Amino acid sequence: MSQAPAAQAAPATPLGYAWEATDEQVSARYGVALSAIVRFDLNTSPAPPDLALRLLRVGAFGRPISEYPPSDYRDLVAAAAETYGVGSDELLVGAGADEILDLVAKAFLRPGARAVIPTPTYAMYGILTEQRPAQPIAVPRRPASDGYALDRPAVREAARDAAVVWLCSPNNPTGLPEPSGAIAALLRELRADADAAGRSAPVVVLDEAYAEFVGTSLVELRASYSRLIVVRTASKAYALAGLRVGFAIAPSDLVREMEPYRPPGSVSIPSVAVVAAALRDPDALRENVLRVSAERARLADALASLGIPAGPSVANFLLVGFGDRVRAMAVADGLLRRGLVPRTFGASHALADHLRFTVRSPLEDDRLMAALAEIVPTLPHPAFGAAQETKP
Ligand SMILES: Cc1ncc(COP(=O)(O)O)c(C=O)c1O
Repeated sequence: MSQAPAAQAAPATPLGYAWEATDEQVSARYGVALSAIVRFDLNTSPAPPDLALRLLRVGAFGRPISEYPPSDYRDLVAAAAETYGVGSDELLVGAGADEILDLVAKAFLRPGARAVIPTPTYAMYGILTEQRPAQPIAVPRRPASDGYALDRPAVREAARDAAVVWLCSPNNPTGLPEPSGAIAALLRELRADADAAGRSAPVVVLDEAYAEFVGTSLVELRASYSRLIVVRTASKAYALAGLRVGFAIAPSDLVREMEPYRPPGSVSIPSVAVVAAALRDPDALRENVLRVSAERARLADALASLGIPAGPSVANFLLVGFGDRVRAMAVADGLLRRGLVPRTFGASHALADHLRFTVRSPLEDDRLMAALAEIVPTLPHPAFGAAQETKP
């Protein structure tokens, strides 16, 4: 999900959040034909049409849709266990990674508990923490020049009395993984601090929603840090966001602690069947990842040639700094008027002067580039003293 883009949906939730505007709302607000709307704000890179068709041909889904899915999602769990190289008892299935994150918050955040969030990062960690209601402790990341890496000593300090630490690698919206060894070192420190204080270590969530784009995972760290929950999804590199399937991978006793909070059938029979087939098709995944990385390089080159270079990214999105928020909002407005929806950040966000663009199909990305080529020359000059990259 994404929150609070330039075109915000109403009404806001009771906690004050609003989910992204729908295509229909953007169309009505900006007077653009519904068919012309393209979402560059949701990090969903379209799959080639034959992939979806091939997967749908798995046919009758192995079970009539007049029935509920088996409450243990047996075949999907078997496929995930094989793909991720973990035991079936170490897996929990959810309606997207978002439901997994929600289950973590419900299982491990009591009212008033503290949850550490290295920022900027995926906004749902803060939202789910506040919903408990627990206390989000934001720890700013290192600056863009350090790849927005974790500030490890600060996270360690903040985690001393925390119930949960939310980590994301590769991180959304900054697009980069944590430096090699940083998460393992942090987990060692958290374990040592907890042992020294005679209390249990915080639950650490490692959201690997974009892991397939780099081809590596830190899932093996659960062996040395028994409070680690790794989160994976079918939404990004598998290009199956509409099916809503995500996974928690964790030591079996942590899975058992989350299990009671899970609805018995939030993932549909077609979703179970198609995602199980997708997990068993590594060639299709490889093709997707290669296609996205080639297109990401093409989009990054085109942005650079317009004088608005994107930061480095290993994921299916690019983060672009515009020097100040006025310029970023002018670009967002110009794009929305053309039916192209970028991800914007609120005025108080560390990346308020940036926009995030999903890498989509070559045709859709060409529309984005053509629009930017029209908009960028009309922008006001950057405000005096505005940095090209905002420090978080
Ligand atoms: C870091 C991160 N985690 C989780 C999600 C949600 O994924 P899903 O579609 O599986 O709910 C997103 C979606 O943008 C994301 O960026």
